[in-house]
Amino acid sequence: MQILAIESSCDESAVAVVDSESRHFSHEFISSQAAVHRQFGGVVPDLAGKEHRNALPELIGRWRGSDSFVPPNVVAVTVGPGLACALGVGLDVAKELANFYGCPLLGINHLRGHALSPLIPLWLENRPWSDLFPHLGLLVSGGNTLLFTVDENFNANVLAETVDDAAGEALDKGARMLGLPYPGGPPMEELARSGNPEAYHFPRAFTPSIMKFSFSGLKTSLLYLLRKMQIDEIERHKADLCASYLQAIGDALVKKVDYATKKLKPRSIGFSGGVSQNDMLRRKMEAVCSRQNLPLLLTPYPYCGDNASMIAFAALVDGSHGEKSPCRFHPKLQL
Ligand code: KG4
Repeated sequence: MQILAIESSCDESAVAVVDSESRHFSHEFISSQAAVHRQFGGVVPDLAGKEHRNALPELIGRWRGSDSFVPPNVVAVTVGPGLACALGVGLDVAKELANFYGCPLLGINHLRGHALSPLIPLWLENRPWSDLFPHLGLLVSGGNTLLFTVDENFNANVLAETVDDAAGEALDKGARMLGLPYPGGPPMEELARSGNPEAYHFPRAFTPSIMKFSFSGLKTSLLYLLRKMQIDEIERHKADLCASYLQAIGDALVKKVDYATKKLKPRSIGFSGGVSQNDMLRRKMEAVCSRQNLPLLLTPYPYCGDNASMIAFAALVDGSHGEKSPCRFHPKLQL
């Protein structure tokens, strides 16, 4: 079975095909809009919709024009959560393609795509995964911060989410205050490598046992600190500021993972979403897993940020959870 997947929930237009028999992904095309939104310091929804309208037909053309093109058996599309004007473009394109090829259309929850993505390497290598459940997952992206469990039937249960900003959003906004370009995670990580994570103390909201995340106080705390500093002082201490800010985010995330692991005794831990590309956070998650003697399933780097392969994979793993023949999108869909 060939599943064609389309992703357009935020600022990445993406197309991918998964072949269920040969267990491989093909035609993995992504067009990022980061450069377009950078000048505004964040994603501008109307521009995102316009960019998807330009990019998706081009990506679909590349897939159809390739030598290995095979008509799909299923078209899967992200139906939410995400920006309404961005999701709508992907859904329209997917409907047209499903109609053209006379195949079923499946609406996929973007968060399930991220949540299941740590399993991709196991599936590609045809490794058994039944002994990895119950699984505890941490999904950290620009729009979401979720701690959840997944049982052997792939049912997800959210344990904690953010009450305000997502961790990635706090990174992007913090980076902006420091004069770094959007998206802020990568340049902040780069600077943090040469900084001292103990140089500044930023607040960690909620103790680990409280099943909520919050990152807006952290952001405000950086703002107030920067207001008290001279411009040249900020420049001189930028690496320390980045390292300390990332450390506060990392502590808030990982301590809750640690607590939930002790309480719930999962058999594996997963880490996914755009922010999971951060090496310092990966090392912190590795430390939790090695302390608890549990396998850590890290989403491979190419599948951390928004991409269509994870949507194809979610459609393959749990097509029955998908919405058959979706006629509308759901900007506020939950995991
Ligand atoms: O999952 P994702 O691509 O998109 C959405 O949430 O839609 O995640 C994007 C987020 C941004 O906040 C970006 O700054 C962050 O992932 N990010 C990183 C890194 N790479 C991307 N954060 C920390 N370290 C990184 N290396």
